Amino acid sequence: MTEVTTQDQPPHTEAALLYQLTGVKRSYTKGSVTVEALRGIDLSINAGEMIALEGPSGSGKSTLLQLLGALEIPTSGQIRFAGRSLENENDKVLTDIRCDEIGFVFQQFNLIPTLTAEENVAIAMVPREPSRERRLARATELLTLVGLGERLGHLPSRLSGGEQQRVAIARALANTPRVVIADEPTGNLDSTNAKEIMGLLHKLHSESGVTVIIATHDEDIARQTERRIKLRDGAITADERA
Ligand SMILES: Nc1ncnc2c1ncn2[C@@H]1O[C@H](COP(=O)(O)OP(=O)(O)O)[C@@H](O)[C@H]1O
Ligand SMILES: [Mg+2]
Repeated sequence: MTEVTTQDQPPHTEAALLYQLTGVKRSYTKGSVTVEALRGIDLSINAGEMIALEGPSGSGKSTLLQLLGALEIPTSGQIRFAGRSLENENDKVLTDIRCDEIGFVFQQFNLIPTLTAEENVAIAMVPREPSRERRLARATELLTLVGLGERLGHLPSRLSGGEQQRVAIARALANTPRVVIADEPTGNLDSTNAKEIMGLLHKLHSESGVTVIIATHDEDIARQTERRIKLRDGAITADERA
């Protein structure tokens, strides 16, 4: 069984290094056609960083996020995450890692339409928190943190896009992840809401120290983050710190 980790654990000596990718390739084969989505990625990410992953559509951003999020394994190469080699782990271990250590935020929000905001957040805790009362209490806390304390009982259809993405961010934080991975989180929002969601991610990062990795093709959004990694045709073309 994988140990359940929280932000509160004392740091290990090498704790600063969260990810180390070495020669990571990922290709997809359909019939006789092979697409090389990632062509050999070498990358280190420290705990507590906030990173924008930039690149045009098709450059491999989502593929890289899926690998960082333990949703996929590489075709070749190594991914060390928090001391483990993801490419060698079985499905059960990867599922535990996704549940305990990684929070996902998607462009389409991916909320369950028949559940309230509070229930959408609480359901993410079902695998780890047996008490429904405690799940709902934590969901209330998290929704208050993202500014939706007054919207707990609303269905997603009664919330704006920006509010739905706030619920999704609260859900991503449900199990106190080490890293929040957001794939074009503002892609479905107007510029005002996009700014607010980015402000929220910055606030969560600076207040909790959680690592945040955001894929975007929006220059304005990337410019606000302290580290920018640029992808093109499945390779890193720039890696800059502000
Ligand atoms: N599941 C898949 N099956 C086949 N090809 C894929 C799959 N996922 C991604 N690709 C291909 O890999 C390349 C990179 O895609 P993606 O990682 O989604 O890029 P981005 O998120 O930057 O738009 C694209 O050419 C895309 O068509
Ligand atoms: Mg994508």
